[in-house]
Amino acid sequence: MIISLTGFMGCGKSSVGRELSRLLCCPFMDLDSVIEEREGRKIPEIFATEGEAAFRRMEAEALRKCIYGQASDKLVVALGGGTVMTEECAKIVHEKTVCIYLRASVETLMDHLAGEVDNRPMLAGNLRTRIEELMSIRSATYEKTAHIMIDTDGKTIEEIAREISIKELFI
Ligand code: S3P
Repeated sequence: MIISLTGFMGCGKSSVGRELSRLLCCPFMDLDSVIEEREGRKIPEIFATEGEAAFRRMEAEALRKCIYGQASDKLVVALGGGTVMTEECAKIVHEKTVCIYLRASVETLMDHLAGEVDNRPMLAGNLRTRIEELMSIRSATYEKTAHIMIDTDGKTIEEIAREISIKELFI
C-alpha cells in the first residue's frame, strides 16, 4: 500500500509524511526532493530557467517512477502542492495510492509559509492573495482526488500523523 499526502504548500505534507513513515516503520519519499535530486538543482531554479510546464512534466515523470517503481509493500509519499493539478498525476494518485488531503485554513498556511516564499515560485506576489487564488482553483481537486481528508488547523505534526496511522488500520 502506498499512502500519499496532498494539500496546499505549507500544510505539512513533508513533515507529517516523515513522522507517519516513522510510525508505520516504512520508507518515505518526498516528491519535490526526488525531482531536485534527479535534476541536480532546486525547484526555484527549475521554474526560473524552464518554467512551470517543464516542472510539471518532471513532476509527472518522478511520480510515475515513484509509484510504479516502488519495491516495499508500504510507502509514504509527500506530493507537491500542485501535483494533483496535472490530470494524469491525479488519476495515478487516486487509483494507485490511499490519498490523504491535509486541509488547512488560509491563516494556518500564512503562518507556515511566512519566510518560505522564496522557495516556492508559485507564491510570488502578495502571499494571502496567492494562497486564496490558488486554493479556490485547487481545493475541489484536492477533495476529489483524496480518499480521506484531515483538518490540520491547531494540530501538531505528531497529532496529524497519529490520526492518519489510526485510520490506516481500517483501510
Ligand atoms: C508547488 C508546490 C511545491 C513544489 C513547487 C510547486 C505547487 O511543493 O512542488 O514549488 O504548485 O503548489 P510543496 O507543496 O511541498 O511546497
